[in-house]
Amino acid sequence: MATVLVLNSSASGADSVSRQLVQATVSRLRHQNPGVHVVERDLDADPIPHLNIETTTAVRTGLAETAAQRDALALSNALVEELKAADTIVIGAPMYNFGIPSTLKSWFDYVLRPGIAFRYSEAGPEGLFKGKRAVVVESRGGLYSSGPAQVMDSQEPHLRTMLGFAGITDVTFVRAEKLGFGPEAREEAIRNANAELALVA
Ligand SMILES: Cc1cc2nc3c(=O)[nH]c(=O)nc-3n(C[C@H](O)[C@H](O)[C@H](O)COP(=O)(O)O)c2cc1C
Repeated sequence: MATVLVLNSSASGADSVSRQLVQATVSRLRHQNPGVHVVERDLDADPIPHLNIETTTAVRTGLAETAAQRDALALSNALVEELKAADTIVIGAPMYNFGIPSTLKSWFDYVLRPGIAFRYSEAGPEGLFKGKRAVVVESRGGLYSSGPAQVMDSQEPHLRTMLGFAGITDVTFVRAEKLGFGPEAREEAIRNANAELALVA
């Protein structure tokens, strides 16, 4: 059975463009494949705690002594298992201050573990979550895919690098841009992103 892991990270609830686009994509996937198993992680409603002095080493090494370390490791293991089980990952990633929301970054901090998501060899780093496909919905107030603000985009290159480092190289980015440029630009951006996502799904 195909499994889809859905990550939402917008802090804007029902008003969120990325959530709406992710939802439309998941509905299409369900329609095409009624047997699909969908696992949803709402990183806003159910945030992954930041790594801290007590939990960092436990998550990175898999060795836990205190209750906080055991909890962090159990959560990390659960997130890793969810990702391992998924054939497709759909990520809703708003642009926050030119990058991704810290809630989504925390998810990566708990999942990109040495020896599990990647390993180093003489040939350099190797991603271990191969054979998966990712669809990333990026919502942005401004325009970053072309023009002078292109160099300010720390969202898409960061996501591409983190996914690629874990071996997930089949990634489609769909951008809803210029959402802050007025109602017409906003509607057009959402319409275009939806059309692109319909082709992807
Ligand atoms: C905390 C915060 C920071 C933001 N920073 C940026 C930014 O750096 N560049 C940008 O183009 N839009 C920025 N925006 C606008 C959002 O990218 C835009 O509202 C987008 O629709 C958010 O995605 P969502 O609708 O899925 O929540 C920011 C919004 C918030 C709430």
